[in-house]
Amino acid sequence: MIIVIDGPAGSGKSSTAKALSNQLNIHFLDSGALYRAVTYYWILKGKPDQEKFFDLLPALDLNVDLTNNSFTVWLNGNDVSDDIRSSAVANHVSDIASLPRVRKKVNQFMRELVEQNTFIADGRDLGTAVFPDADLKFYMDASIEERADRRYQEMEASGHAVTRERVIQNLKERDHKDKTRDADPLKKADDAIVIDTTGKTFEEQVAEMAAIINNKLHINS
Ligand code: CDP
Repeated sequence: MIIVIDGPAGSGKSSTAKALSNQLNIHFLDSGALYRAVTYYWILKGKPDQEKFFDLLPALDLNVDLTNNSFTVWLNGNDVSDDIRSSAVANHVSDIASLPRVRKKVNQFMRELVEQNTFIADGRDLGTAVFPDADLKFYMDASIEERADRRYQEMEASGHAVTRERVIQNLKERDHKDKTRDADPLKKADDAIVIDTTGKTFEEQVAEMAAIINNKLHINS
């Protein structure tokens, strides 16, 4: 079974999906972390041009550790979970994620991963392109100011040097690229339930979504 949450950066998808995975005891899948890992690989390889990067893609080995409800990303044998949260990665991830060959590789990895278990996954195109038959689809959104505040606080708390203005600029640029790219743009699926988190506490939004999921599980059982 797969539950998906799509939406723009900072809308609360990842933290909500993580909380719900703990509460419901199902696995968490952070698709953005996989795109971030591919972007980190591109940086490690010296930011090659597209053709050269495509030649290097087969040697990119992604892996995830799901023990204790975690989602730890491994790149060619190394845990890169911290490295993928840097500004350097954030500044390039939307460009790397717009490449169809990269999307194909990440999508294939995700589809294989969810075959065996129940997952709650967050991303941009999960309900539309990757898992169009998902059991339950959410689309989370919030105002740009609130999304930027959340992301700024997260990055500051984890020691990444950044200003609020830079965070707003990065979110706006990524929103634009994610919504307008040709390959699987960020878009609400027709059958997704919209959750606007502006002005809501974290606990409120988690409780609202848990109730919807429990209701669905109850109906299906
Ligand atoms: O956490 P945040 O919302 O900032 O971003 P993320 O989920 O870590 O994703 C980083 C970037 O990866 C996004 O801005 C998208 O460009 C890309 N992405 C994507 O294209 N498709 C997905 N399913 C997930 C992320």
